[in-house]
Amino acid sequence: MSRNLQPYNPLKLRPLEETGRAYAGAWRAMVLIILLVGVLAPVLSQAEDSVYEPLPPMPHPADNPTSTEKVELGKMLYFDPRLSGSNWISCATCHNPSLGFGDGLSRALGHGQKELGRHSPTVINSGYFDAQFWDGRATTLEEQALGPIQAPGEMNQKMDDLLKELAAIPGYVAKFKRVFGTSVITPGNIGKAIAAFERSIVSKNAAYDRYWKGDKKAMSASAVSGMNLFFGKAKCSICHNGPILSDGKFHNIGVRNHGPLKEDAGRFNVTKEGNDKGAFKTPGLRHITRSAPYMHDGSEVTLMDVIEFYDRGGDVKKNLSPYITPLNLSRQEKLDLVEFMKALEGEPILITLPVLP
Ligand code: HEC
Ligand code: HEC
Repeated sequence: MSRNLQPYNPLKLRPLEETGRAYAGAWRAMVLIILLVGVLAPVLSQAEDSVYEPLPPMPHPADNPTSTEKVELGKMLYFDPRLSGSNWISCATCHNPSLGFGDGLSRALGHGQKELGRHSPTVINSGYFDAQFWDGRATTLEEQALGPIQAPGEMNQKMDDLLKELAAIPGYVAKFKRVFGTSVITPGNIGKAIAAFERSIVSKNAAYDRYWKGDKKAMSASAVSGMNLFFGKAKCSICHNGPILSDGKFHNIGVRNHGPLKEDAGRFNVTKEGNDKGAFKTPGLRHITRSAPYMHDGSEVTLMDVIEFYDRGGDVKKNLSPYITPLNLSRQEKLDLVEFMKALEGEPILITLPVLP
């Protein structure tokens, strides 16, 4: 192909009669270059995406720097059922460390054991997201934490009542004073402490990380094949990319909603943009081996079920992302993809249960 290209030599003078031909040649070369760039760039940038990205240090907002004492206070609040109206449900009820910081259920059970519309996502690595919830309706963990406490369907607690309850527990008053410099307990500081604890829950040092640090034995041959499929033929990395294997964006991948809601408009509820109907946040994939079942409605039970789902190109075609198409994977390729996802499980995240004041 390069024989069509004129050497780059713009100052060289040509005889007049040759100029027209030279222009035609240059024009053809331009078209060729544009075509080449158009065809190759997506392929090349796909290859670029497959470059391993290690987890960066957890970012902390300027107005909520972390400290050991703050994380400890946040952990107490996270595990304290007195944060709920019934004094029976804590954050850990639905985001249980023993169950990958999820609850093992398809849809969460809220106040009065009533089934909610969505699956409890893991809070592992949630500090890396710029948007919280399946539809991204909260932007910070600080803001997010106050949602479930007051939601009638979840912890069903009136904030004023909670502030009174906590103010009556001397151990909490002393802790808040040490951490925030004031013994007046505020919703803002409750949110900050819980968020600081959540940012300490990170999945790291997976076989995938060790592999890229040079330990080529860390991943099995099957997991390596799965990785190549993930970043190649199976197109997973179009959406699952970056350090936590999520683009942080919202896509409709064609999940048929199983919950008590017939249809869940997802991101559309936040943006009111037609394109966002049925779109949900791309979950991170580190450590998800521990937080089955999967999807916003918990409709896929195992990782193999998830792969089968993608292999058939999703279930609902309405407003489907153009990136979701049947994959025609072989049995071995499906197993390889599952092995790769297993290689994304980090070292165990061990939590010592707090003694509550
Ligand atoms: C009754 C079960 C339940 C309780 C209790 C609960 N959550 Fe959740 N949590 C959920 C569900 C369900 C979602 C997803 C809701 C949605 O997307 O609309 C969620 C979403 C989240 C998210 C967003 C994660 C992400 O990746 O988007 C975080 C963080 C979180 N909860 C933390 C907490 C904290 C902190 C508490 C306690 C203050 C708490 N949750 C209490 C069920 C619960
Ligand atoms: C078009 C973007 C996109 C592509 C391509 C894509 N995903 Fe997803 N993935 C998502 C979104 C969005 C969700 C959540 C959808 C929902 O709950 O409705 C999801 C959910 C998942 C889950 C469930 C995680 C959990 O915690 O519930 C897994 C596992 C997963 N994807 C793996 C893969 C694999 C493997 C591939 C390639 C075969 C892939 N994804 C391709 C966007 C994508």
